[in-house]
Amino acid sequence: MRVDFDPEAMSGAAFFRFMTSVVVPRPIAWVSTVTPDGAVENLAPHSFFSIASTDPPIVQFTSIGRKDSLRNVEDTGEFVVNFSSEPLLHLINATATDFPRNVSEFGFAGIGREASRHVRPSRVAASPVVLECRSHTTLRMGNSTLVFGRVFLAAVHEEYIVNGRPDAERLRPLTKLGRDEWGTLGGILHLNRIPYEEPHAE
Ligand SMILES: Cc1cc2nc3c(=O)[nH]c(=O)nc-3n(C[C@H](O)[C@H](O)[C@H](O)COP(=O)(O)O)c2cc1C
Repeated sequence: MRVDFDPEAMSGAAFFRFMTSVVVPRPIAWVSTVTPDGAVENLAPHSFFSIASTDPPIVQFTSIGRKDSLRNVEDTGEFVVNFSSEPLLHLINATATDFPRNVSEFGFAGIGREASRHVRPSRVAASPVVLECRSHTTLRMGNSTLVFGRVFLAAVHEEYIVNGRPDAERLRPLTKLGRDEWGTLGGILHLNRIPYEEPHAE
């Protein structure tokens, strides 16, 4: 027997808790942005994150409500997605506190920066992979805003590359589950896609 969860009969907060427990695991975009005057560098995790288009390459994160990351992207058109890997867990969590816009999470959490090549927001120096993005579109939906960014450069620390590609076991991706749960990489299965074959004519 199934138990029904009806969004119409539940509060938004309760259904949010339900949704974030079943859409799992979610990769975490650790998004860096900067205020228009360049004075304050912002950093915040966003687990509502995905690839939106492959050609051109576009990634997407969702701001639930209007947060500093969103405001900075709207004002500057630029952001960097820093890959969230396991050794960065506590630093990432330290940047999820709701600081005022004039407080830099980089400074507060003592996070090392490096300059980006194409955009003004800094990269997280210790993040294995960074995606430098320019805003493509933003889309308001309900209480949220989807931010789509075209990737102009991906930069990977060489020790994470195996046979020309970033390697999952070396990257040690962190994910977000429900409530206060975070996930790490589980077992990896290797499986080829099965091609469609026409039935043989007799
Ligand atoms: C792992 C993790 C994932 C999160 N994902 C999101 C998300 O997808 N969207 C969102 O709006 N907030 C998300 N948050 C909360 C924001 O990181 C938090 O509100 C932060 O203070 C926003 O910072 P900002 O105001 O500097 O943008 C997440 C928090 C954590 C710890």
